Amino acid sequence: MLVSAKEMLQKAREGKYAVGQFNINNLEWTKAILLTAQENNSPVILGVSEGAGKYMTGYKTVAAMVSAMIEELNITVPVALHLDHGSYEGAKKAIEAGFSSIMFDGSHYAIEENIEKTTELINITNAKGLSLEAEVGSIGGEEDGVIGAGEIADANECKQIADLGVSMLAAGIGNIHGQYPANWAGLDFEALARINEATGNMPLVLHGGTGIPDDMIKKAISLGVAKINVNTECQLVFAAATRKYIEAGKDLEGKGFDPRKLLAPGFEAIKDIVKEKMVLFGSVNRA
Ligand code: 13P
Repeated sequence: MLVSAKEMLQKAREGKYAVGQFNINNLEWTKAILLTAQENNSPVILGVSEGAGKYMTGYKTVAAMVSAMIEELNITVPVALHLDHGSYEGAKKAIEAGFSSIMFDGSHYAIEENIEKTTELINITNAKGLSLEAEVGSIGGEEDGVIGAGEIADANECKQIADLGVSMLAAGIGNIHGQYPANWAGLDFEALARINEATGNMPLVLHGGTGIPDDMIKKAISLGVAKINVNTECQLVFAAATRKYIEAGKDLEGKGFDPRKLLAPGFEAIKDIVKEKMVLFGSVNRA
């Protein structure tokens, strides 16, 4: 069932668990995540970055593939198809193509402009019954070898954006996309507590889910995080399983080169990691 993320995240916030957003890149990724959600009776969010959208030839292709797959695989758990870190123009395109949820990342704008653009998009998503994620503060990451800790979100700015009526709010609290460096300071729970306090019952979003220790994930959920994004970890397990298959020479045995065989270990590895995350986030049997 393709739905907006609003209701599943409000339920998660009330029930003190989180729904996983797993980013997709192709058919194998999408199928693995949908089947795992169904097997575990868990709601799920399929994340699509603008780059992955382009890779899959455009948002229309992605929306058509996801809706058809939900039908053909008899997926009955709630599924949101969500644009990840969308630009203002990208958000409009994804809405037109049939996405059920949108992230507008206006974190690089001054707060006034972030508010203005987020408001314009809320008017569109509300009219269509879609969910909207906004971002305040920035998620860190590596740029030209320089490790950024990310900009910690200001609680007042978070309140201003939350009050606009967004469905979920991503706030930078020292989280980083990709793998965490050995000297990472960890999540800033004092900042998270301030943001949680300032934004009331707003489902908060934790980006950069790859590599965050389990105890920090649980503490973040206890402080209002209701959506956790995971991307790199699926890529790493897919690559490792594929490498193992090829290094064992399996592609050279019989018809082991058939893509349906060659991609199978990576597909299974994604299923395993997604299940592990659903158990950790507490979303199993919450569909
Ligand atoms: P990771 O790649 O670090 O898991 O982050 C995913 C993410 O936050 C997508 O928005």
